[in-house]
Amino acid sequence: MSPSAFGVIHPRRTPAGGDRIRTGTRTVQPSSSDGAKSGGASSGGANSDGKGPLLAVRGLEKTLTGGDERVPVLRGVDLTLEAGHSLALTGESGSGKSTLLHLVAGLDVADAGQVRLAGQDVGALSDAGRARLRREAVGLVFQQFNLIPSLTVAGNLGFQARLAGRFDADAVAALAARLGLEGLMNRYPEQLSGGQQQRVAIGRALAARPALVLADEPTGNLDEATGDAVLDLMLELVRDAGVALLMVTHSPRLAARCDARLHLRAGRTTEAP
Ligand SMILES: Nc1ncnc2c1ncn2[C@@H]1O[C@H](COP(=O)(O)OP(=O)(O)OP(=O)(O)O)[C@@H](O)[C@H]1O
Ligand SMILES: [Mg+2]
Repeated sequence: MSPSAFGVIHPRRTPAGGDRIRTGTRTVQPSSSDGAKSGGASSGGANSDGKGPLLAVRGLEKTLTGGDERVPVLRGVDLTLEAGHSLALTGESGSGKSTLLHLVAGLDVADAGQVRLAGQDVGALSDAGRARLRREAVGLVFQQFNLIPSLTVAGNLGFQARLAGRFDADAVAALAARLGLEGLMNRYPEQLSGGQQQRVAIGRALAARPALVLADEPTGNLDEATGDAVLDLMLELVRDAGVALLMVTHSPRLAARCDARLHLRAGRTTEAP
């Protein structure tokens, strides 16, 4: 993943600036042009006023194609996540966890079914509409951290918050302190350890005060003890900030600390084993 995940540059899509959207937990700025495709009902829906769950996924299907191969990855996924709640997603390698997170983030579009996020039908939005929704409502934390190499820790921490128009220097400083990054603010990502980079990635997502954080196995590059400690901290910060969290994790201990757990198997969500 690259900075594109924040709606800056995307290899396959052309994001654009525009009006703010209304999220599930806060009103940012009413949208006069929501970027919906013609016929798409991105506003005025049942929960566009913030009522209903923050995230509702219904009957989601996605087939990926590589060369001649067609891989039916998701065959009817359902999940609901309320504002401020946390959901752990588990599943074997290749079961479609990353694919699901990409669809929720609007980085890709489903073949069938619906992702409803913060009152918006993600699949009905234009490319620009999805980029805007992502920028305004979603914080992404990925396994590879995806920090911007040319920006310092301070620059990275404030990056998404600035994009979302919610940069607050005091809040960023407070978050940096909680993450133990105060002494590293002028360093560049290449001058950080894996655990430090991961903490910056978490801080960057949270500094923008998103309604939803999507975390895709963010401990994958770390030893178990470091990964657990940093994810523990993320759970704590997310809870304190009242942010919803959808987290892919292989750690039963961390999954147990989330409000709910789901398991992906054969393209469908089941109860976690
Ligand atoms: N471009 C593609 N073309 C075809 N199949 C693909 C493509 N990208 C991914 N896949 C397949 O889709 C399935 C789901 O991939 P996905 O990355 O969502 O799994 P995952 O659950 O996140 O796995 P992991 O735990 O290893 O990260 C896998 O079987 C994978 O091989
Ligand atoms: Mg994955």
